[in-house]
Amino acid sequence: MCGIVGYIGKKKAAPLLLAGLKKLEYRGYDSAGIAVQEEETIAILKKQGKLNQLTNAAQNRVFNGKVGIGHTRWATHGKPSDLNSHPHTDSHEKIVLVHNGIIENFRELKQELIAAGHEFNSETDTEVAAHLISSYYQADLKEAVLQAVSRLEGSFALAVMSYQEKDRIIAVRKDSPLIVGLGEHENFVASDIPAYLEYTSNFYILEDEELADIHQDKVEIYSFAGELIADKNQTKINWDAEMVEKQGYQHFMLKEINEQPESLKRLLALYLDDDQLDLGSTGLKNNWLQDYDKIQIVACGTAYHSGLLAKYLLEDKLRLEVEVEVASEYRYRNPIINQRTLLIVVSQSGETADTLAALRLAKKNGATVLALTNARDSSIAREADLLLYLNAGPEIAVASTKAYTNMVAAFYLLTVDGMRQRTEISRQEVQAYQTALIKLPELLRQVIEHTGAKVEKIAEKYAVQEHIFFIGRNTDYTLALEGSLKLKEISYIHAEAYPAGELKHGTLALIDTGVPVVAVGSRIDIFSKLFSNLKEVKARGAETMLITIENQDFEASSVDYLVELPEFNQYFVGLLTIIPLQLLAYYTALFKGEDIDQPRNLAKSVTVE
Ligand code: F6R
Repeated sequence: MCGIVGYIGKKKAAPLLLAGLKKLEYRGYDSAGIAVQEEETIAILKKQGKLNQLTNAAQNRVFNGKVGIGHTRWATHGKPSDLNSHPHTDSHEKIVLVHNGIIENFRELKQELIAAGHEFNSETDTEVAAHLISSYYQADLKEAVLQAVSRLEGSFALAVMSYQEKDRIIAVRKDSPLIVGLGEHENFVASDIPAYLEYTSNFYILEDEELADIHQDKVEIYSFAGELIADKNQTKINWDAEMVEKQGYQHFMLKEINEQPESLKRLLALYLDDDQLDLGSTGLKNNWLQDYDKIQIVACGTAYHSGLLAKYLLEDKLRLEVEVEVASEYRYRNPIINQRTLLIVVSQSGETADTLAALRLAKKNGATVLALTNARDSSIAREADLLLYLNAGPEIAVASTKAYTNMVAAFYLLTVDGMRQRTEISRQEVQAYQTALIKLPELLRQVIEHTGAKVEKIAEKYAVQEHIFFIGRNTDYTLALEGSLKLKEISYIHAEAYPAGELKHGTLALIDTGVPVVAVGSRIDIFSKLFSNLKEVKARGAETMLITIENQDFEASSVDYLVELPEFNQYFVGLLTIIPLQLLAYYTALFKGEDIDQPRNLAKSVTVE
C-alpha cells in the first residue's frame, strides 16, 4: 500500500527510481512521482494515474542527479491528483519526502505549522511531515527527522532528502515496512524487496522505530532515540530476480496460477522431510495439541478464506474448537483470549495492518501466536512466536492465488501434524494423509493443464454478466467464497457466495432466467445435497456451472457447464477445486479487458487499517 523507492550511487537516479517503482506498482497505482537531487535544486516530477503517465512525462525531462526518491501511491488522505501525489515538500523546498502510511495527528500539526507561517499546497497528511522536518532543520537532516518523528502519531515509512545535503537519504520506519538494499558504491531504499532485487541480494530490514542514514558508501542504522545500532543484521535474500518478472505470461496472475504446483512443492519440501512431516522448524512442540483449548484463526480477504476452509478440517480431525474471524473485527471486539489459545494469523505480505494488530492484541492477552506468512522478514513473521513460512515465492498480482494455495496447504500440514498426536487416529490413516499431500503438486499441474481451455470458454459467456452466484457446502462453501472474491476483484462483476442450503432463506428470490450460478461440488460425501440445491436454482431458470469430481452420477440436464476434477482425498481436494475458480476469474476479466494485475481501487499490501 504505497511504494517507496530511493537510490544513491554513481548512476543516474531517475531510471533506477522508475524501474524500482515498476516493481512496486502492485502496492498502489493512483499516482506516482520522483524527486532527484540536481545541482541547483531538487527536481520533482509527479503525475496522477498509473506509472506509465510518469514514465512518459519523464521522457521529456532531463534528470542528471545520482540521488533520488520515488513513490507510487494508493490514496488515503486526499483524492488521486497531481497535487496530492508524492514527493511532497515544505514551502521553501528545503525538504522533499515520500511517505507510506497514515499520520493520524496531521490536523493538529498542520494547525500548529500554519500558525508558525507554513503554507500548505495539498490535502495530504504527508505534506505535514515535510513541513515539520523543515521546521526542525538546522543543517543535519538526521537530527531534524529524529525530532519530527517524535511528534508523529500513526504509521509511517518515510524517505527524506534535503537540498542542502545532496549525498544523503534518511529513511525511517514505524508500522510501515521499509528495507535498505546494500550495493557496491550504491545503496537503495524501498518498501519491498522486489524493487531492487536485480541489483543486490543484501538488505537491512528496518524494524519499527529505526532510522537509516544512507550515503553512497555507507549506511548507518539508528534508533528513534538517536543511538547507533552497530550490530544491525544484514538479511540475504535468495530469490532470483527472474521470479519477479512475467516470464512470457500476459499477466502475473496467470503466471502465478501456473506456478502453483512448483510453489506448493517448495512449501512441502520445507516440512516433509523424507516423506515424514516435521513442523519442528516452525517452533511448534512435538505435542502442541495438548497445550491449547482453542485455535483462533485471524486474517483478511483471501487469507481469511484459507482459515475458513481450515476450520472444517481442524475441528473434524483434531476435535479442537476453531474460531475464524476477519482481523479488522477481531481487533476491536474484546475477544476471549488466554494462555491456552493458539492464535494463527495468516498473511501473504506479513504486513497487513489489521492482522498485525490482531497478533499484538492476542500476544498481550497471553495467546501463543503462529504466523503463516509468505514474507519471512515481515513484521508479522518477526512478532509471532512461531512461524510457518509459506515459501510460495514473490506474488505480484494483486489477486492472490499461489499464496492462497500454500496457506491452505500449510493448514493441511497442521491438520496432519495434529492427527499424528491423537491416539484415536491410526498411524495408517496419518500416513495415508501424508502420502496424499505428496501427490498434490502433480495433481495440481494436471488440473491446470486440463481445465484451462474449458474454463476459458465458459468465461467468455460470463464476461457479459452483471451478477454471478456461487454455492457450495462444507469446504466447498469456503472455496465458493474465494472464487467469488477473485471474480469480483478483477472482473468487477457482482459475485456472491452462499452455503448452498442457505439460498432458500432469501437469496433464491434473486435467481431468475439466465442468472449464472456456479455450484462448487467437489465434496462427494455431500454431493447429493449440493446437487438438490443446484436443481432448485435450475428450476428457476438459472444457468448452472458445476465443478465436481469425475464419474459422479447426476442428471446432466440440470448442468449447463461442467468442469471435472480427478478423484482425490476428500479433505485435500479443495486445492484442486480452487484452480478452475481462479481461472474463471482470470479469463472472465481477460474477456472484459480489465486490468487484471492491478484492479481498480486495490493494492497488494494493505498496511493501513
Ligand atoms: C485478494 C487478496 C486480498 C488479501 C488480503 C490480505 O485476492 O489478495 O484479499 O488476501 O488483503 O493480505 P495478506 O495476505 O497480505 O495479509
